[in-house]
Amino acid sequence: MDRLQKIIAKAGITSRRKAEDLITEGKVKVNGEIVTELGTKASFSDEIIVNGEKLKPENLVYYVLYKPEGYISAVKDQFNRKTVVDLVPAKEKIFPVGRLDYDTSGIIILTNDGDFANQMIHPKYMIEKEYYVRIKGLLRKESSIALAKGLIYDGIKAMPAKVLNVKYDEKKESTFLNIIITEGKNHQVKKMFEALGHEVVKLKRERFGCVDLAGLNKGEYRILKPHEIKTLYNLSKNG
Ligand code: URA
Repeated sequence: MDRLQKIIAKAGITSRRKAEDLITEGKVKVNGEIVTELGTKASFSDEIIVNGEKLKPENLVYYVLYKPEGYISAVKDQFNRKTVVDLVPAKEKIFPVGRLDYDTSGIIILTNDGDFANQMIHPKYMIEKEYYVRIKGLLRKESSIALAKGLIYDGIKAMPAKVLNVKYDEKKESTFLNIIITEGKNHQVKKMFEALGHEVVKLKRERFGCVDLAGLNKGEYRILKPHEIKTLYNLSKNG
């Protein structure tokens, strides 16, 4: 038995938050009865009808993709550009967990589990994301310290970031580094470096929580292992 909103989210219909709204709005029936109580428990063996539609327990699937540059992190694009979903031929209705910019490469998880996706991207759960970055210019020590303390950019204070493996290419006036952040605000890495006076010229996400790109080439995907899904849940809970 699970909370009704969790079951609805797990079926891939909508997020848990939206499922809660549907319940309180009286749009959910369990075994013929309208249920408006959020704590109500049910299971997939109950007949659950959401907005007049019977809930089918979908097979929950989880993939990890090495996103190449030039793909949109969405299910569909209004300009018909290629999307990350095009690279993972699943029969289930999968969607990306969070986003990477069009010109960013690296790790992205795709799933049809709305509940899992919400938990992975919610800032309060603080899952680490590690990026390999190349910036224009030579990163100053004070800038690394500002990032580590929690940089203020665009009028918001970022959570502390970890900067590691800093390497300078003085000839090309570039810095290569890894940065670990726990949030996932829009264009966050680019904006943070921009605030410090550096343009990001290459951005690749190398790690999402416990999952990295080992064994994958650009454009390739694999199924997440059950222990990886479990660890991601644990990381998010303990974050
Ligand atoms: N930060 C960015 O600026 N872009 C991404 O794609 C991911 C993190």
